[in-house]
Amino acid sequence: MQTEEVKRLYIETYGCQMNVADSEVVATVMQTTGYEMTEEIGEADCILINTCSVRENAEQRVVGRLQELQAMKRGRRVVIGIIGCVAERAKESLFESGADIVVGPDSYLDLPHLVATAEAGEKAINTNLSLTETYSGILPTRTGHSKISGFVSIMRGCNNFCSYCIVPYTRGRERSRPVESIMKELSNMREKGYREAVLLGQNVNSYNYVDEGGIDGKKAVSFAELMAMAAEEFPEMRLRFTSSHPKDMTDETLRVIAKYKNICNHIHLPMQSGSSKILKAMNRKYTREWYMGRIEAIRSIIPDCGLTTDVFCGFCTETEEDHRETLSLMEWARFDNAFMFQYSERPGTFAAKNMKDDVPAEVKARRLKEIIELQGRLSIESNKRDEGKTFEVLVENRSRKSTSDLMGRSEQNKAVVFPAEGHHIGETVRVKVERSTQATLIGKAEE
Ligand code: 5AD
Ligand code: SF4
Repeated sequence: MQTEEVKRLYIETYGCQMNVADSEVVATVMQTTGYEMTEEIGEADCILINTCSVRENAEQRVVGRLQELQAMKRGRRVVIGIIGCVAERAKESLFESGADIVVGPDSYLDLPHLVATAEAGEKAINTNLSLTETYSGILPTRTGHSKISGFVSIMRGCNNFCSYCIVPYTRGRERSRPVESIMKELSNMREKGYREAVLLGQNVNSYNYVDEGGIDGKKAVSFAELMAMAAEEFPEMRLRFTSSHPKDMTDETLRVIAKYKNICNHIHLPMQSGSSKILKAMNRKYTREWYMGRIEAIRSIIPDCGLTTDVFCGFCTETEEDHRETLSLMEWARFDNAFMFQYSERPGTFAAKNMKDDVPAEVKARRLKEIIELQGRLSIESNKRDEGKTFEVLVENRSRKSTSDLMGRSEQNKAVVFPAEGHHIGETVRVKVERSTQATLIGKAEE
């Protein structure tokens, strides 16, 4: 008797957490066509590269990776696919570099068909964007290394068209996943022993699911309502969410975060720039003062809230004064941490088509250095303020530096390290902070 051959799938993921969540959807879709995941790229029958367009020189990097994979194949039959944001942008040109399939972020349900075409020796592509696809029927295969915390994508796409940003072009229009499907996924995670879920979306707090078929007619569920429902249904799970757009960060949402103990007191609120002039050029739809108002609301409604941000320097027309406004807003907001970048043009965006990338490279580099140095000091100060305080830490792993120590996260999303002393991964432990570095709080479990 012949046994059915198991085919091996290897997925390489770049970019944001949404991409990590998408790769888990892809793993499930590929199972339906006989592919099991492997962590050994050398034994894979299909290699999928889930790509990111925000990275600098995104396309060149993907082409480089394709060339490496061609060399690695050495005559073996392997289906090589480029999926995700770069696939959406570069499309057919990726075939020339050796891709067998090219699949955009809204076409993953078509993978079985596309892979079968490639297995039969033909190239295949689907980069259609959808107004409705949320993969609501798919329970993602948890491929991440943490068995404690997992991602749940709740909305896709973006309608904001910030002038520098490629996302609306690679991921299409905003759409929210049905409440029921989110709840089902959370329930499945709970059954598998997960202790934390991170709800994801490009603008997660713009979530708004409209149920056209409700008995009383149309019924909409807002982000604040969804969070409250999830917090009540899953009281033993920690809930986080990212990334929020400041314009949609309502007081109602802040009150829900404050009300439920299991919704973590941490908000990632990308500021991008501290200058109202630059924010306008970026089409961010808020001013410096309005952003400050949101931070004040966070601080007053959720007093012990962790606060992190995204910021980048060197956008078109940015002067020294604009840059100083960015530094002063960072200092005023006292962010705990930040993702920091310098502007680089993304082909196809409004800025690439209509604005001059006029800040010299060396000026961008110097401004970024100043931003990174400032944030380094702010992170050290923020961690110092936590010394002597006690935090509830969800243990995710052993410490990288010492196996006798455990590593977890506080509600505020700070890494906390402490001696294991009988505690274990997956447990929530009250840890008193004794000292800190720029990146870590170090302490001891309370008796
Ligand atoms: N140049 C530099 N940084 C960018 N980001 C997005 N697009 C660009 C770009 N063209 C940054 C923003 C965003 C984060 C994910 O990446 O800060 O919030
Ligand atoms: Fe990169 Fe943006 Fe696509 Fe995420 S959505 S993978 S950050 S381009």
